Amino acid sequence: MAVLEILKVGAPALRTVARPVTEAELATPEFQAFVDDLVDTMHAANGAGLAATQVGVGLRVCAVHVRNNPRYPYKPDFPLTILVNPELVVLPEADGSYAIASIYEGCLSVPDLRGRVDRNLRVRVTAVDRYGAPRIIEAAGLTAGTLQHELDHLDGLLFLDRVTDATTLSNWANFDAHHRAGFVAEAQAINARFGVAAGGSAASD
Ligand code: NI
Repeated sequence: MAVLEILKVGAPALRTVARPVTEAELATPEFQAFVDDLVDTMHAANGAGLAATQVGVGLRVCAVHVRNNPRYPYKPDFPLTILVNPELVVLPEADGSYAIASIYEGCLSVPDLRGRVDRNLRVRVTAVDRYGAPRIIEAAGLTAGTLQHELDHLDGLLFLDRVTDATTLSNWANFDAHHRAGFVAEAQAINARFGVAAGGSAASD
């Protein structure tokens, strides 16, 4: 096990477009050890996800895992998932419209800051897992936003780039004091709309 350093905003590696992982690389012990380290680092930081670019590795790999997450207690649980070379498409609702919501996001690479980002609420991600097995994940609600956030990292994007109203930026103490309650109500409405329950306790950050 190794916990890697998580790069912070301003680090050039966070702004690089990661390259696909080759089949030959997938089979190497070095790659498998890196995936283990990525997961360990995500868990050590209480992250809901972590992309390789955040630890300075320019490969299209990210990990996602939400379970009683203290940083995001309103997020539905999502099993530990490794996405290699993921591709994301936005899916329409039954009536052909596209569901979008304004969601407060944070990022381990952007310490002590949250802000509102518009995210699509229904997506399909096609990828392979750490061993090269095909994965197709259809996600709705807040989980769809989490996946978009992680895949953005692989293209050198941070949630900051998608904040359209900079007045929503808030440090965590002020998020807790002034914005958390309102947003939790919004998040619960999103969870209810997509038929999922928040996985976490009501623990605060
Ligand atoms: Ni992030």
